[in-house]
Amino acid sequence: MIVIENLVKTYPAAAGAGEVSALRGIDLEIAEGEIFGIVGPSGAGKSTLLRCLNLLESPTSGRIVLRGDDVSQLTGAGQRQARRRIGTVFQQFNLLHSRTVRANVEFPLELAGLGRTQRRARADELIELVGLAGKEKAFPSQLSGGQQQRVGIARALASEPDVLLCDEATSALDPDTTDQVLDLLAELNGRIGVTVVLITHELGVLRRICTSAARLDDGRIAETGRILDLVGTPGSVLGSAIVPVGDDPSAGDGADTALVTTIGDEAHGPWLAQLVRKLDVDISVVGGRVEQVAGVTVGRLRLRFGPDVNRADVAAFVDAQSGTTLAWGEGPETIGAVTQGATA
Ligand SMILES: Nc1ncnc2c1ncn2[C@@H]1O[C@H](COP(=O)(O)OP(=O)(O)OP(=O)(O)O)[C@@H](O)[C@H]1O
Ligand SMILES: [Mg+2]
Repeated sequence: MIVIENLVKTYPAAAGAGEVSALRGIDLEIAEGEIFGIVGPSGAGKSTLLRCLNLLESPTSGRIVLRGDDVSQLTGAGQRQARRRIGTVFQQFNLLHSRTVRANVEFPLELAGLGRTQRRARADELIELVGLAGKEKAFPSQLSGGQQQRVGIARALASEPDVLLCDEATSALDPDTTDQVLDLLAELNGRIGVTVVLITHELGVLRRICTSAARLDDGRIAETGRILDLVGTPGSVLGSAIVPVGDDPSAGDGADTALVTTIGDEAHGPWLAQLVRKLDVDISVVGGRVEQVAGVTVGRLRLRFGPDVNRADVAAFVDAQSGTTLAWGEGPETIGAVTQGATA
């Protein structure tokens, strides 16, 4: 669907002193129908990547291929046409305040040269789709933040884009409204099949709706994959952040601790009791968490074992359980400047 090849973006630095490398060679594939999350610390290059994707910014080098078409080197009419295949939803909604809801949604259709009757029909259809029927004649100032963002989403969908890009689309909203807007994006993804790429600093957003994600760090892709694969991969920074385990200072240096991850309902049987009985080991639970991730129950337990534990036996026992993985040691814990958020 979207293939990004060795994308580089360099800005001239302030006061002409050298250059800023915002993107240092991004390779990324986003499959059709995904809800793809992009996270990373401030300054990692997330917004730059998004501006390259929606063709507001030209990359210094590299390619962006959208359904087989290289859209990164287009200019003029070709670029304008390609932009219609990519809808963008902004953090601050970016609505026209002197225009009604309907006129805001009609705006891109006007630019595309659509006739009045067609525009109105299409706009009203979209307004209904995002749950705002009855608000056609309201002005943005008469709407709540969540409603304004629904208008922003309807407008972004007006040109029937292949992909919807969201730059921190829910950051200006309270937690309940955030959840509603995220659920709307997931519903639209299911109903009209639009691929969604969203930038977020809220890990709750990844947990709630994303199917895949990438972590950007200093202009590079540090890791990427399906959400549940990341969570099940020992050592994945992103996976650890998506389902974090609290730290207990008494857990010591981690030499005898293990992190067990259980994915799916089958994995949540009485394996811990069986492990203790079968191997006759001493275990303290020093951290734990259960989360819904991509609609699946994921559990994490950090266990500390007695000094003469046979690691191989424990690992063999745990690995034999379905949907369960074990990693010795504390593992990675944090990514900078990303928050857990209130979202479930
Ligand atoms: N127009 C610009 N001119 C010069 N440098 C820029 C420009 N836009 C971004 N940068 C630099 O590129 C780097 C990446 O910025 P970007 O805005 O993409 O980060 P981000 O990951 O979106 O951060 P945040 O989470 O704070 O929004 C930063 O070092 C930034 O200062
Ligand atoms: Mg940004």
